[in-house]
Amino acid sequence: MLKNKGNFFILETEHTSLLLQTEGTAGYLYYGERLSDYTGAEGLLAQTGAPLSLFSQWGKTDFREPSLLIRHADGSVVSDFRLRSAKIAKRVLPEGLPASYGEEKCLRLEFIDAAARLKYVLQYVVYADSDTVAVSSFLTNVGKKTVQIERISSLQLELRGCFSFTSFDGAWGCERHRHSRALNGGVCENASFGGSSSHFRNPFVMLSNAGGCYGFNLVYSGNHREIAEEDDWGRTRLITGINPFDFSWELGEGETFFAPEAVMCYGKTEEETGARMRRFVSRHIVREKWREKERPVLVNNWEGTYFSFTREKILAIAQRAAQAGAELFVLDDGWFGRRDDDCSSLGDWTDYSEKTGGLETLADEIRAMGLSFGIWVEPEMISENSELYRKHPEYCMRVPKREPTRMRNQLMLNLADPQVQGFVFRAVSRVITQTKASYVKWDYNRYMTDCFDKGTRGGEYLHRYMLGLYSVLGKLIERYPKVLFEGCASGGGRFDLGMLRYTPQIWTSDNTDARERIAIQAGTAAGYPQSSMGAHVTASPNEQTGNRNSLYTRFCIACGGVLGYESDLSRATEEELREIAAQIAFYKEYRRVLQFGTYHALGESGRWAGFLTAEGGRAVAVVAAFEKRTYQKSLRVSFAGLDARAIYRVSIVQRDCTLREICVASGDLLNKGSVCVDDMFDTERECNPVYTRMFVLEKITKKALDRELRP
Ligand code: DGJ
Repeated sequence: MLKNKGNFFILETEHTSLLLQTEGTAGYLYYGERLSDYTGAEGLLAQTGAPLSLFSQWGKTDFREPSLLIRHADGSVVSDFRLRSAKIAKRVLPEGLPASYGEEKCLRLEFIDAAARLKYVLQYVVYADSDTVAVSSFLTNVGKKTVQIERISSLQLELRGCFSFTSFDGAWGCERHRHSRALNGGVCENASFGGSSSHFRNPFVMLSNAGGCYGFNLVYSGNHREIAEEDDWGRTRLITGINPFDFSWELGEGETFFAPEAVMCYGKTEEETGARMRRFVSRHIVREKWREKERPVLVNNWEGTYFSFTREKILAIAQRAAQAGAELFVLDDGWFGRRDDDCSSLGDWTDYSEKTGGLETLADEIRAMGLSFGIWVEPEMISENSELYRKHPEYCMRVPKREPTRMRNQLMLNLADPQVQGFVFRAVSRVITQTKASYVKWDYNRYMTDCFDKGTRGGEYLHRYMLGLYSVLGKLIERYPKVLFEGCASGGGRFDLGMLRYTPQIWTSDNTDARERIAIQAGTAAGYPQSSMGAHVTASPNEQTGNRNSLYTRFCIACGGVLGYESDLSRATEEELREIAAQIAFYKEYRRVLQFGTYHALGESGRWAGFLTAEGGRAVAVVAAFEKRTYQKSLRVSFAGLDARAIYRVSIVQRDCTLREICVASGDLLNKGSVCVDDMFDTERECNPVYTRMFVLEKITKKALDRELRP
């Protein structure tokens, strides 16, 4: 809810209040737990002292990192934006960029730099149901002189107090590991430079202290930068937006530049903040068609075959997938051009019929088995050994007269060029139409180098590439609204809200080792919903690490996201297939709670970890212990997030996915106390395993309990 109270505005959600001063100068007055009474706010506004600013400009008396920097026609970078108006208005969507949806109104603040004839607009959109506030900004040149935007961040929040800064960092195969450090009067930076949100630094960050936790994310997939800075007045500033590195945008007369949207929220704990962010993503980022819609259980052939497959092999895997109850078969890399390894054919999105035996009929045969058909593409790329490159070498991203850098033996297409965007749109459309695919895996397997386009001004390239990508994705989802797109970037190298706006789920990591996935998925789930994370059961020993784990353990961990299987199922034994069929049946039965339940992280640092997800009267929990001490037979685990006043029947999900009841207890006791899992370490005898157990917790009524207890 948005309301005006004299010289300030109240932005209220179910559990939070944000107060903005809007007279004289604009500033933050309060952001935190919802206030029941706002009396006295005007008085507090009248007090002097270090203000908390909504944005920052360089050249006056603020010597911290600025959120806005404009080089004027005379070469100076001094700006002086003054508040002109503050009102509740219809929100202006950022042109060409993905943005949250579901709310039309915003608090719009207009600032004018009279000397430079520039108008800067900040918009605050309140999502009451997810306790989040989305912030966007744009700059319009209302004068005649062209200026250069050197930086324009999406969101600045200032708070009083000292905080620790949490980011989610990693690399290929170990994405989004949580790291926290105290700001201690200094600066922390979290940024990406390779043209995408990256495996290295995810744009989701948090600021926390004893008073609570603030979460931030950016609806953008390109280079981003978050910076947290504590000053000697005890203020902490958080800025998020496009990375100003190699960014510079020329703004001529009458032109407007839109910064990507950002989102923030407050929670009393990290857990609460995470829950709010996850709800925001599920309800206001993931597009309407897939909003809280159950995702299919898929089987993908990649780790099962890599590039070496035949039509017969694919059909044999699909046959087994159908038998086990899977719903979707995904044909991964290798079906097009002359693609036998990663050295060729990207760009030639035509059937490699010697291998597929005819792609269209292959898709039909798979559908005839009762599965839907999905297909892999990597449309932003080009191989030098391809028909496309031979015909259109000018389509690729490179600097004239310089040797381009190859990564995974490939170059990138120049999506800043509308002609190339048109090619990509047509190529992907053709694949979808021909195969009648209901799912597309959109891969992206390298970072950007050699960025250049002869029609693009220096400093604008990286952002223009993103606008090109979003334009293609936007047109594709408009043309194929029912198709489920899954994002991917060598695993989870582009796991962000920009991509999630078009691709409701994203492949979390190429590392499918159950043990390693625990931290990757926990780090991802800190800010993104379970339904956004692709999670597959793959072969043991694991392809990436060589670790062995039971099928049960691999399944338990994959239940943390959208379940899939990725191995050569045609070689699975009958016993394995029976186990997989039971797992899939179980997953379908509990899919709502697993994909859309309220998520809670569980665990005891270093000893065991896990999660619990609850919806309605049901919860499912997975716990994983990292090591067994010689004397240890059992593990005591405690749950979280259960309804304190309800009574639950707690059962262990056994290897065949039947339930074995272990106790009946109140939610309060289960949250605060612990349950002994006596057979925790019984089954895993293999090397470097992780010991897992899955639980189903179902609410039972007092009456039913009494009936059971009656002799
Ligand atoms: C990288 C992806 O993360 C994998 O799942 C797979 O699709 C390969 N690319 C195919 O080249």
